[in-house]
Amino acid sequence: MPDIRLSHITRSFGAFKAVDDITTVFPEGTVTCLLGPSGCGKTTLMRMIAGLETPTTGSINFGDRDVTQLAAGQRDVAMVFQYPVMYSTCSVIENIELPLRRDRSLSAAECRRRADEVLEVLQLGADRHAHIRDLDIGTRQKVAVGRAIARRCDVILFDEPTTNVEVHAKLALIRAFKEFRARLRQTVIYVTHDQTEAMTLADQIALMQSGRISQCAAPHVMYDKPESRFGGWFLGNPGMNFLAPRNREGATLRFDVLPGALALPAATTGEVSLGIRPEHVDVLPAPTAETVPARILRSSITIGGQNLLSLVVGETRLKAKTAPGIPPEDGATVFVRCPLEHAVFFVDGLRLPEAVQRAG
Ligand SMILES: Nc1ncnc2c1ncn2[C@@H]1O[C@H](COP(=O)(O)OP(=O)(O)OP(=O)(O)O)[C@@H](O)[C@H]1O
Ligand SMILES: [Mg+2]
Repeated sequence: MPDIRLSHITRSFGAFKAVDDITTVFPEGTVTCLLGPSGCGKTTLMRMIAGLETPTTGSINFGDRDVTQLAAGQRDVAMVFQYPVMYSTCSVIENIELPLRRDRSLSAAECRRRADEVLEVLQLGADRHAHIRDLDIGTRQKVAVGRAIARRCDVILFDEPTTNVEVHAKLALIRAFKEFRARLRQTVIYVTHDQTEAMTLADQIALMQSGRISQCAAPHVMYDKPESRFGGWFLGNPGMNFLAPRNREGATLRFDVLPGALALPAATTGEVSLGIRPEHVDVLPAPTAETVPARILRSSITIGGQNLLSLVVGETRLKAKTAPGIPPEDGATVFVRCPLEHAVFFVDGLRLPEAVQRAG
């Protein structure tokens, strides 16, 4: 399986750059999720890799093969779109087998074997002779995924395949996708704006913002060590808290949420903020040496059994996610602890690579 190498890829529509000078490598045999807000250029980038869109500048290689000028049909890529594209009057098995039959190197028995394998993994055996037009959209999308995978192309591209599928069918698709990954090692690019999906499926996430890749890293690295405030905000539900210091004297900082002071690396200039995820903020009923008192605000809510508390400490507002249970009442005083090992510091929006220590 080849890697996918993008070199200075740009796609302009008039004066607007939908994809803006991206240079990166998606390693062979891995799943890369392109994640980012609506309009950031995910589909445009994927369409260029597929050969459906021509880059304004730059080149695309699959391994050593420069595919920039090749049509989609010459690139050995399979694609699954947001809306399944299929022969609606044909049966499930026909839809999976027909593209395989066009490959003359495959025997009829091999075509059937591959089709049977995907039907089994997708648990579509009972629907094998059903017509596509009689299936709901979730089942159709399963067939589209199976058809793309059965072809065993070097590269498979998915553009938000689960967006229009109801939640149970979505989970079934994600499970089937993981099962296929365990059997086959194609190079996969999976476009999504659903971070849970990206965290579940990706070997690496390429986080996009305004036509650029702002960070490309393994999901847990992206989550724990976002390179920018954008990454900290976009990942997480809700995203990170960003807290401004209460005061700063030279390299010494004080935050409302921390007792004592912190020492920045000496040469740091620029606007500093402390990032901490709501699930890392501890909310305690009694004080300890590491806590500060906080008040619960009315905007606190409960989602999916977890409490999402809105708190105020001095002048600072922050969110905390706590385990299921009865939340503290609005207006109550509690004690919050922001463990430094989970804090990330940003200077002018970018992560400070050095550690920040307690002062004194
Ligand atoms: N053919 C086109 N002509 C003009 N502008 C376009 C064209 N295709 C895309 N764009 C613009 O390029 C930007 C990126 O679009 P793209 O579809 O790649 O975003 P996306 O990240 O896939 O968004 P979504 O999550 O909504 O699918 C958008 O502002 C879009 O309006
Ligand atoms: Mg899109």
